Amino acid sequence: MPTRARFDFGSFGFSTRRVTCPSASTSATPNADGFGTSITYIPQDKPLGLAHAMLTAESFLGTDPFVMYLGDNLLRDGIADLVEAFRGSEPDALILLTSVPDPWNYGVADLNGVAIVRLVEKPAQPPTNLALVGVYMFGPAILEAARAIEPSGRGELEITDAIQRLIDDGRRVESHRVTGWWKDTGQLADMLEANRLVLEDIDPRVEGELVESRVEGRVVIEQGARLERTLVRGPAIVGAGAELRDAYVGPYTSLGPGVVIAASEVEHSILLAGAHVSDLGTRMEASLLGRNVRLERGDGLPKTMRMIVGDNSEITIP
Ligand code: G1P
Repeated sequence: MPTRARFDFGSFGFSTRRVTCPSASTSATPNADGFGTSITYIPQDKPLGLAHAMLTAESFLGTDPFVMYLGDNLLRDGIADLVEAFRGSEPDALILLTSVPDPWNYGVADLNGVAIVRLVEKPAQPPTNLALVGVYMFGPAILEAARAIEPSGRGELEITDAIQRLIDDGRRVESHRVTGWWKDTGQLADMLEANRLVLEDIDPRVEGELVESRVEGRVVIEQGARLERTLVRGPAIVGAGAELRDAYVGPYTSLGPGVVIAASEVEHSILLAGAHVSDLGTRMEASLLGRNVRLERGDGLPKTMRMIVGDNSEITIP
């Protein structure tokens, strides 16, 4: 699938297949890990919009019906039931809608009863507060519709306009209201909020090893994790093979596999696989560390800051 994921966090509710598309590459790393599937990446050469991304994948899609799932969207209830409903009625498009307090930040639907009258992308004056969720199910007619539209004011081929085109052409576009929570996790605050929502629902279990350590509340300690002189206060997840020494892990924290925390306190944060935090000397909170990030306090002189920080990172120093 073409992807615009800013973080590859969360799970996919659809299966992928191998193809012989010339620009496609099938990768077993790193994102396919743990999903038990093969994932084909089709790079979009320029960020010219979601409909453009879809057209980039045209030869991959063929005439099959498909799910377009924006990588930064997270739906509590997944999409398996919706895919079944879509397969049952085979409309040209099935879109998901949900009420939001800030509709001007999304595609917005105007309805007449259950019929969709109009879809408009990020309107200054939203006709309703019903946002388009970034998960769409399409039949092949959407490809023709995407070829027929013009770029929007922000220079993108909007998927919203392509769906509007289906409506204008008298095609069958159905909508479904999302009742469980939905998050567009494009920003750090949304990502942390999604993390909180996911952690609210975990079933506690301790499979790792605790040495002079304690867990409180709803906590998952996965296999092979080892805690020494550490307190984990839930809700929190400590991933497989993580090593926590002389550490405090506070509520709403997710630690990926192989994370190391030594002599440090971490709360309300997400640390992806292999991140390493030691001797911080201050509690870290509301943070997101990528894979294999190392964050440590040195004890040598001079007392300067040294860092290698990737693109688009943000660091706040107290
Ligand atoms: C995109 C879509 C928008 C949709 C949103 C959902 O916006 O264009 O219609 O409501 O995803 O996440 P973007 O997040 O790319 O600005």
